[in-house]
Amino acid sequence: MTRELVLGIDFGSASTIAGVLVGSRIELVQDAGDSVIPSVIYVPDRGDSVVGRRAIAHQIAEPSNTIRSVKRLLGLDSSSELVRRFAASTALPLDLTTPRPMFKLRSGAQAPEQVAAAIIGYVRTLAEQRFGVRIRRAVMTMSAGAPPGYRDAIIRASKIAHLELVDLIAEPVAASLALDLHSYPGNRRIIVCDFGGSTFDVSAVVQQGLRFTPVGVGGDHLLGGDDLDDALANTIAGVVYKKTRYDMTREVTRWTELVLRCENVKRQLSVVENTPLAMREAFTADGKRQDLRTVVDRPFAERAWATLMHRVREVIQDLLVRTGWAPEDVDLVGLVGGGSMIPVFQATVASVLPADRIRRADQPELAVAQGATLLTARHSRTSSELPNLVAT
Ligand SMILES: Nc1ncnc2c1ncn2[C@@H]1O[C@H](COP(=O)(O)OP(=O)(O)OP(=O)(O)O)[C@@H](O)[C@H]1O
Ligand SMILES: [Mg+2]
Repeated sequence: MTRELVLGIDFGSASTIAGVLVGSRIELVQDAGDSVIPSVIYVPDRGDSVVGRRAIAHQIAEPSNTIRSVKRLLGLDSSSELVRRFAASTALPLDLTTPRPMFKLRSGAQAPEQVAAAIIGYVRTLAEQRFGVRIRRAVMTMSAGAPPGYRDAIIRASKIAHLELVDLIAEPVAASLALDLHSYPGNRRIIVCDFGGSTFDVSAVVQQGLRFTPVGVGGDHLLGGDDLDDALANTIAGVVYKKTRYDMTREVTRWTELVLRCENVKRQLSVVENTPLAMREAFTADGKRQDLRTVVDRPFAERAWATLMHRVREVIQDLLVRTGWAPEDVDLVGLVGGGSMIPVFQATVASVLPADRIRRADQPELAVAQGATLLTARHSRTSSELPNLVAT
């Protein structure tokens, strides 16, 4: 391999997406035919770890050997409230007696950076195989409101994965490029709402020609797709408890399965009004294991999410106050992140920002990675037809 390409990476808590520029075309890395690569790793008691699509299959059967949402921990101390919340919501044993949290796996302890490195390294290898080139440098995105230790942690994780980060750019700036705003250079005030797996990030970005500058960030690090899944699972467990006095939240394996099934329900409800939810031997009633079979409709789910949607409104309103922008000052509202496909989320954003200026990325889960990949042009030795974008 003599040629070298620069990889653009959106390392997300739910999924990692990466791409390279071939001329001015974005080519995304594929994992088993899918460009959405789950940020999931399965660490067996013995033998090699499995990352991405193939790790997903182990989540239900072996939740205490399967790590997901590791991004939530990167750069945080064990004493952080966010770490405590993570520990409370996972079947994974975490050691919080050391200054930084550590996963206590039967095969040994692993730091969040090592786990992140395994995912990033896997994506790099997939890219090298697909494009037949050496990849040693990357442009990566990070949440505009990431905790202070995040930058160092992700640089270390990338280094372990044999990648030098030549640029770390704000996710909302990458999203603005994915929305193709650089093709219409003008002066704009942009609000980017990124509803991802673990966080809801809202950013104010000013576009001046080809220059994009974040001027304000807001967000909630306890408000993402994972939290919607938990809220829906809790509501369903509450209904089961009322009828049977059986508490589904107390059994780690079943609770994990219920949360994962709720994630699927959430995705379905973005396209249909109601969807079945089935889970074998979900609870015990009358001394027997019983299956859970129900139909979840949008109003039921939206009631479960009402408090979270209230926070979506508050986060946006708070950012407007801090930037001094009135809703009508905003020229464009960009929606990205997998969660932006949820109808009640879209309606919530439209209740605070001008509905006619909202633009959702065509593929909202891919948008940030597409922007990161466009920005690799600045570091490529091959000539590119792309304009010289300025992103800070
Ligand atoms: N069609 C859909 N409808 C509803 N939710 C969806 C849909 N597709 C994906 N999601 C949810 O979007 C979330 C993942 O979004 P995304 O890939 O943007 O997150 P991420 O970038 O990994 O996370 P973060 O930005 O918080 O680090 C998950 O919670 C997933 O369940
Ligand atoms: Mg994201």
